[in-house]
This record gives sequence, C-alpha cells and structure tokens, in this order.
Amino acid sequence: MNTRETLKVNEKGHLEIGGCDCVDLANKFGTPLYVFDEAYIRSMMRVYRDTIEKEYAGNGMVLYASKAFSCEAIYAIARQEKVGVDVVSGGELYTAVQAGFDAKNAYMHGNNKLPREISYALDCGIGTIVLDAYTEADLVDEEAKKRGIVQDVLIRINPGVEAHTHAYVQTATTDSKFGFSTQDGTAQSFTSYVLSKKNLNLKGYHCHIGSQIFEKQSFVLAVEKNLRFIAQIKDALGYEAQTLNLGGGFGIWYTDEDAKIDVNGYKGYLQALIQAVNVGCEQYSLKKPYLLIEPGRSIVGEAGITLYTVGAIKDIPNVKKYVAIDGGMFDNPRYALYQSKYTAILANRANEAPCELVSVAGKCCESGDLIGVNLNLPKAQSGDIMAILSTGAYNYSMASNYNRNFIPPVVLVNEGNAEYIVKPQTYSDLVRNDVIPDRLK
Ligand code: LLP
Repeated sequence: MNTRETLKVNEKGHLEIGGCDCVDLANKFGTPLYVFDEAYIRSMMRVYRDTIEKEYAGNGMVLYASKAFSCEAIYAIARQEKVGVDVVSGGELYTAVQAGFDAKNAYMHGNNKLPREISYALDCGIGTIVLDAYTEADLVDEEAKKRGIVQDVLIRINPGVEAHTHAYVQTATTDSKFGFSTQDGTAQSFTSYVLSKKNLNLKGYHCHIGSQIFEKQSFVLAVEKNLRFIAQIKDALGYEAQTLNLGGGFGIWYTDEDAKIDVNGYKGYLQALIQAVNVGCEQYSLKKPYLLIEPGRSIVGEAGITLYTVGAIKDIPNVKKYVAIDGGMFDNPRYALYQSKYTAILANRANEAPCELVSVAGKCCESGDLIGVNLNLPKAQSGDIMAILSTGAYNYSMASNYNRNFIPPVVLVNEGNAEYIVKPQTYSDLVRNDVIPDRLK
C-alpha cells in the first residue's frame, strides 16, 4: 500500500481516504479534522517488523517514534502489531501506558529527561532509557538502586553524519544538543562512566541522524561509523555493545519534489541498513547487534490528511491570492517553523485540474500563519473542503491552542468506517486549568 492506494477520487469526484468520502467526513465530523488511515499505518509497521524478522533473523525490533503522532489509539495499534515505541516524555509514556502498552517495550529518549520523568519511567517498568547526559546516568542509577533493580540503558552517540535535510531537524552534526560525539572522546568517557554504575546495564548505543532523509547513503554511513566506534570501544574498554539503535528519519512524500516511496521502498531502506550492519560486523569482527530502528514520520506521515473548510478569499491584484481555511498554525505549525511544503486538493472537486497558485492562510492573528505558499489549486470558493496531504506526522503532535483555537479532533478510517480516536475539544476544555485568584474577582 502507498499514498496512491490510500487516497483516491471516487465516482462523485470526491477525495476518498481509507474508503471514506472526505466530504462526508467533513459533514459528519466537521472541520478542521485530522484523518488517519489505519491500514496504511499497519502496513508500514508490518513491513519494518517483517523485514527484521525475515532478513535479520528477528534479532531486533521496530520502535514507532511516537513523537510523530501520539494518542492512545496509536499505542494500541503498535501493541497489536507487536512493535515497540520510542517515547520522549513522561506524557508520551503515560499515554502509552493508559493505552495498555507494555512499558517494557518502550525506549525513553530526550536530551534532558526530568527527574520526575525518570522516576515515573522506572515506576512503569520502562524497558530501556537512552542516556544523553551525566546527570541522567546519575539519576537513573540512583532511582534504580532505590527500587533494587538494574536498569537497561543505551547511550546516545553522535557519529557526526550530516544528513541532507532541513537544518532544524539535523541532530547528529558536531554542533548538536543530542548525544556524545564518537569523534572527540566524549562518547568513550561517558561509556566508562556508565559501565562503572552498579545499577545500570549498558546494552549499547543509539544514534539518530536526522529526519526527512532520503539518501540511503546517510544511513549506511551512520551504521559504518557506529560499528567502527563499537569496535574501538571493544578494543579500548573491553566492552562490546549488544544493541544498536539506528533511530528514525526515512523521508516521505509531501509534494512532487519528494520521492514517492512505497512500502517496498521502505523495506529497501531497512535492507540497506541490515546489509551495512552485516558488512560492518564482518569487517570489525563484532557479534551482530540487536537492531532497533525508530521510524515515526514514515509510519504515520502519509497515513494522515487534514480536512479544512475554505472561508475568506483575498485576491490582492498583482501580488497574490490568499485562500483562508478554518485551521492554521495551531493544527499545523510546520510551514511557520520550517517552511515545509504541502500538497492541497479540493476534496469536493478532486477531479478538477489545478489552475492557480495560491497561499493557504490560517485563521490566527499573525501574518506567518500559513499552511503553504504557491499551492496549486482549482479556483477555490468559500465552502470548499480542502485536504492537505501527508499531515499524519508532526501535525497533531505539534498542535497548540494558540489564539484559543481548538486542536482539531482525530478520526481513524478503515475500509469505509470512521471513528474518533481523539474527540473534539470544547470551550470548557480551554479554560479547564484556568484560575482567577480571589483578589482579581
Ligand atoms: N528517534 C529519535 C531519537 C528522534 O529524535 C526522532 C525524531 C525519531 C526517532 C523519528 O524520526 P522520523 O522517522 O519521524 O523522521 N518536528 C520535525 C521533526 C522532528 C524529528 C525529531 N526526532 C518536523 O516536523 O519535521
């Protein structure tokens, strides 16, 4: 399954996702609305899981990077699909646990895990904590000691691979707040430190070289560098890592400037990684590590779309045309943050050929509140239903109540059925935690 199979235009000329007519979805659930195709999510989880199973003798696990899209239902799907998860805060872990997800299959990340998050993670029986600071090693060791356990940990390393992606999502270049560099001795020193802690069991290393990366070579290079580092540590400290977590980062299709990769294509990325691991282990005489990958965007990104209703249209002669929708940076801040590009479709007139370039504006009180510029559309009219494609990753999870707008609800579609997995907010939700001190009354 790929994007083209998830989305189609039906006999009414309406856009369809997961067998549901988007105009019907908009009528039934209102807009703005996030819509996710369950079959797409499952097919992506399965392809990664099965590839590790078949081509790496099951010696590893897929961890869904839940920062891409976190709500109870996604952890329930991950549990059913037998994939683990990467959580990056107490909140993500709590959501997973609420959904009945076994914390043993969760890996906790973050460059500054809070003491209360570490303590909560241990209370939940977290599988592994990925250490990214001396303070974290101390805290996890102490908390594990208090509980009389030895906690499995990984160390986040920075192999210095520069991936071709937007600068803000590069994480493994030399200047990064993430990880310990394998090139300046800091990763080795931290390894010795962690090995000296009685209540920590160092399983191995983790790296994540960035996000929305298409070049296989970047991932392969990271594997090579990681294995070379593991071999160096084996020589220097007599410690051989058993686990290698290669992070996430596989790119997805947003516009026709991006490659359209189908499920088999993603399998190809993982196969390239596995091959690089096999070659590197041979070269450095290492045991094949337990292999983890942490795809987020590629599992949920193309599975999701956002539906909006077109409102005001402002044609500024000889300048540009703004088409405003009932959402904006509060449900999708990615243009404002990264100038990300998207593809828009008028879901109620999906067969009409695009004929003009417009800027799609949100409803927030600031000029930068755009979903995109130069989006190619048929002549939009107020009341049209606009679908923005590939919004499944880092949209809902990065949404806010800016301007006291509602974070849109989320609907999961599957073979023509649609149901809420996140219910709509109400005005009372917006003031639920507000307090007026007596002196202001
Ligand atoms: N593992 C770690 C440690 C990560 O930091 C990330 C993403 C992933 C896995 C998943 O990467 P993915 O497969 O989704 O590329 N908000 C940005 C993306 C930030 C990515 C942060 N880390 C965006 O909207 O593009």
